[in-house]
Amino acid sequence: AVELPKLVVPKAEPEEVDDGKKKVTIFYGTQTGTAEGFAKALAEEAKARYQQAKFKVIDLDDYAADDEEYEEKMKKENLVFFFLATYGDGEPTDNAARFYKWFIEGKERGDWLKNLQYGVFGLGNRQYEHFNKIAIEVDNIVTEQGGQRLVPVGLGDDDQCIEDDFTAWRELVWPELDKVLLDGDDATVATPYTAAVLEYRVKFLDQSDESVSDYSSANGNAVYDALHPCRANVAVKKELHSPASDRSCTHLEFDISGTGLAYETGDHVGVYCENLIETVEEAERLLDLSPQTYFSVHIDEEDGTPLSGSGLPPPFPPCTLRTALTRYADLLSAPKKSALVALAVYASDPSEADRLKHLASPAGKEEYAEYVVASQRSLLEVMNEFPSAKPPLGVFFAAVAPRLQPRFYSISSSPKIAGERIHVTCALVHEKTPTGRVHKGVCSTWMKNAVPAEESLDCSSAPIFVRTSNFRLPSDPITPIIMIGPGTGLAPFRGFLQERLAIKESGAELGPAILFFGCRNSKMDFIYQDELSNFVEAGVISELDLAFSRDGPTKEYVQHKMAQKAADVWNMISEGGYVYVCGDAKGMARDVHRTLHAIVQEQGSLDNSKTESFVKNLQMNGRYLRDVW
Ligand code: 2AM
Repeated sequence: AVELPKLVVPKAEPEEVDDGKKKVTIFYGTQTGTAEGFAKALAEEAKARYQQAKFKVIDLDDYAADDEEYEEKMKKENLVFFFLATYGDGEPTDNAARFYKWFIEGKERGDWLKNLQYGVFGLGNRQYEHFNKIAIEVDNIVTEQGGQRLVPVGLGDDDQCIEDDFTAWRELVWPELDKVLLDGDDATVATPYTAAVLEYRVKFLDQSDESVSDYSSANGNAVYDALHPCRANVAVKKELHSPASDRSCTHLEFDISGTGLAYETGDHVGVYCENLIETVEEAERLLDLSPQTYFSVHIDEEDGTPLSGSGLPPPFPPCTLRTALTRYADLLSAPKKSALVALAVYASDPSEADRLKHLASPAGKEEYAEYVVASQRSLLEVMNEFPSAKPPLGVFFAAVAPRLQPRFYSISSSPKIAGERIHVTCALVHEKTPTGRVHKGVCSTWMKNAVPAEESLDCSSAPIFVRTSNFRLPSDPITPIIMIGPGTGLAPFRGFLQERLAIKESGAELGPAILFFGCRNSKMDFIYQDELSNFVEAGVISELDLAFSRDGPTKEYVQHKMAQKAADVWNMISEGGYVYVCGDAKGMARDVHRTLHAIVQEQGSLDNSKTESFVKNLQMNGRYLRDVW
């Protein structure tokens, strides 16, 4: 396994000493680190303000080993904050999933939280249907259970500037904490608090060549996750669009034989990809450092004391600057305000420093929204426009460039047919931004350039891991299924169909399966066309319904096809069928949901509220499943 180092957290918590200080616990459910960063930022400032209290920041997964422990520990809390992100189809982050399930299921506990004062800040994106669902639910439930809400739930919106939302919410927190924690004393912070720029301690090493041991063999237990991915070779790469298409979609197969990595049909694969060399070279030029610079980053002082705050991302293994920029730095996302502040500190030209500070300040809010968000300026683009800002490595990797995150894909194969291969179906992200830059999606570009390991050692393997999903075929293959997946939304259904083929070949009987697939043009982006006709021929799909949006004079979408087949869809649902939707959440899944609602209402002759509860029930019973992004 590839060992991506973890933050070193002492396992055995030191025994709590009762020093009379009030205890405040700050929980976070984080996927990419933003919620964690906010939780730590709140704790840092709170520590500076209130010497009368102690603040603890905790990963929700690390808090308790099981439901019982959650309950036992939560009962003893008096003052807590939650930072909770909402993902995908209104789901909690992986590290909050266990807590959330336990919490939601415990609705009938009564007013067991009556001694709790609390606040919730949510991280979500308004473009999505279930905007901040997790935060809102947890907030409601804590209140229902007797908890006392100190501040209104914060609804952070990543579509705009979530840092601003957090800052605004935090300003509501202080007056409330003053009341609870100060007993008439004054808060300690007299001058406005400014967060320190995060920074790793950096050691420059003199090895000129890189040790490859960081990316070596198995970790012994073959339990792979985001922190312990498994390096897998690329076995196959194919273009799925026809040459006539001006877009691209890659079919990639990772070889997982001998790794111990396993998956089930419907799971996701997380892929750690690499930046393009041209991107990396530009960053090297902007930092004005040699690509051969060999260094390591540390989150503690030489003597082992943690660096103040330590809201630092986990360090990465010692490597050259070239490698660090290739593997660990997100160079193409929009820079956060905190990144602009860090750049400002190191801008040697005072006018550049002022402008960067202004962009990150409350007064520069509108300009940031225009210059960074609306213009989709990347970090490198901004650094290009502020050439005097050359942060040292320890600052660059801690505060300027976020860690390059793994990308998740719905696996497009079934292990029953694909064996020890994980198939991925990935549309190329390649678009012109308002400034004229061509934005090349990091992972989709990497996949498009990937080469089977037999042919080359370069761009032929990636650290990957599997994330379990609940997107599963019904346990009884006779159950009817309705699949709706335009574009790369087809991916998990290709896995489903392979699975059904294997079931059929084993002699079992299959229930009806209808697939609604859509793409722009039957001659350009009709991916897996031959395979789909084979599935029809083999009786694995009983009905294939195609919507081509740019073939004819009018737009045909999958939901139009569904509406035309309303009676069939309704019959299948009435017979206990399952409905699956995969693909774009912002447009397609919402429109398909409306269409499903309309079909149920009309065909079932139900009124609006009966329809609502019917569809909700489907969802609750796991018969209406969505894998959307
Ligand atoms: P379009 O790009 O021509 O609008 C796969 O991306 C297919 O989904 C394309 O044919 C695309 O059509 C279509 N699509 C776009 N928006 C959609 C929506 N809201 N509902 C269903 N299909 C949609």
